[in-house]
Amino acid sequence: RKVLVLHGPNLNLLGTRQPEIYGHETLEDINNQLYRVAERGNWELTCRQSNHEGELIDLIQAARLDGTAAIIINPAAYTHTSVAILDALNAFEGTVIEVHLSNVHKRESFRHHSYVSLRADGVVAGLGKQGYHAALDALIEAAKG
Ligand code: DQA
Repeated sequence: RKVLVLHGPNLNLLGTRQPEIYGHETLEDINNQLYRVAERGNWELTCRQSNHEGELIDLIQAARLDGTAAIIINPAAYTHTSVAILDALNAFEGTVIEVHLSNVHKRESFRHHSYVSLRADGVVAGLGKQGYHAALDALIEAAKG
């Protein structure tokens, strides 16, 4: 089974970007840990990051056609603005889990609304990198039936 982990804008800066909010680990550290978990669960994992809304949409559209069973997505700031990412996810038939490192509900009010949550099957916020692990573990467990 295939799972795509998508990281949105500015998440390439993890580790140095507002570490008090987003933690000290880099995106590469987080992805490497996820690769190990996926391998153990026999899932084929792909991790991608983009600062560009259109590229994220292209990746979601590709996932729709290549047999990807689930998308774990941290759309970052596009969470709060992007109807286009919501539309792309609505065209994807697999499982969608939305992850935020920080607890967006405890922050500025513009972060309280998520377009992506209108589609997501599950949402994790405020658990830092463990949020990605929770999402991946949930998928692996659910697939075991
Ligand atoms: C974020 C929260 C968003 O509001 C913010 O724009 C981000 C990261 C998070 O992971 O906590 O870039 O998605």
